[in-house]
Amino acid sequence: MLSQQFLASPQFKLVLLVGMVLQNSATVLVGRYTRSAVPSNELYVVNHLILVTEIGKMLLSCAFEHFTTGGQLMDSIQSNIIDAPYDALKILVPALLYLVQNSLLYVALSNLTAPIFQVTYQAKLVTTAVVSVMMLNRKYSFQQWVCLVALSIGVAIVVLGETGDNKKKEETAAGEQSLTAGLLAVTVACFSSALAGVYFEKVVKATSPGAQKKKPVSVWMRNIQLAFFTIVTASMKDLFTVAPASAANAAVSQPYFHGFTTWVWILVCLQAGGGLLVAAVIKYADNVLKGLATGVSVCFATGVSTVLFGTPLSSQFAVGALLILVSVYFFSNPIKTKEKSMAPEAED
Ligand code: C5P
Repeated sequence: MLSQQFLASPQFKLVLLVGMVLQNSATVLVGRYTRSAVPSNELYVVNHLILVTEIGKMLLSCAFEHFTTGGQLMDSIQSNIIDAPYDALKILVPALLYLVQNSLLYVALSNLTAPIFQVTYQAKLVTTAVVSVMMLNRKYSFQQWVCLVALSIGVAIVVLGETGDNKKKEETAAGEQSLTAGLLAVTVACFSSALAGVYFEKVVKATSPGAQKKKPVSVWMRNIQLAFFTIVTASMKDLFTVAPASAANAAVSQPYFHGFTTWVWILVCLQAGGGLLVAAVIKYADNVLKGLATGVSVCFATGVSTVLFGTPLSSQFAVGALLILVSVYFFSNPIKTKEKSMAPEAED
């Protein structure tokens, strides 16, 4: 078992964040491969993938809870879910917020061109910091805010480079798009994502005196609850989805596990494992650091993609990647001035 001291150390945070960069990059690469290597009629349905992944997350979280409680999974389910339904229901909030986020992303993608979507969605990092300040009393220095904005721009530049390459494949029906609806959807999705993540963080870090008289609920138990509510909400969404109108959505009516090749199962495992990593990063580091790791993984995945698929590296990629890495460096290493340094403080 890992000691509490190690779990609270900066080294452990770093291990988790590097793990997230690798997991995220692998997910991006495998995800891209699974969607590009097969004809469209053999493609898996994204909704089905999400549902299967959440079931995987729940099973993995159960395994972790079983292991960390010395085989007391059933007792833990009894005391943390059956005997405390109102406490468990707290996790319905992030589950619903993630549902709103995912649904709005779909609205945004249908109303915005891919480049506008990619650029505006990067604001998520800044909204996460804003919500962390409001809900967790975090403090960020001016330099750190500049780094967060610069990192978002860097990620946007890198993904824009890729979007540009795929432009011909992803032509959309511009006539049916509404810029206002799209921008509104992205804005609300960015806040939804931030609120869900920071709310989850607040719940899993709630160890202040009086907050809980009994043993604190573990992050794995919280993840079991989150996956459970996500499965319920995703299934309801699936059930109430009206028959697809466009040819692009026709795949929704496919049977379960249609198109689940070995690579898709690998993607499921990566994402389910990634869910546990996200939970651990939120618990032992925080949501803004998670955003930084995601930013680094965008440039790492593009770099690896160059090696694996031979995509030439553009100067756009070089500029974006440099901006990302410099921002992460200066976010974590405040420049010493005569004024008191304002590194982010741990709450509670
Ligand atoms: O885009 P964003 O960073 O908000 O997405 C977070 C993702 O992480 C969501 O898809 C959510 O399902 C997932 N997550 C998770 N486990 C948690 C918290 C979030 O799998 N404990």
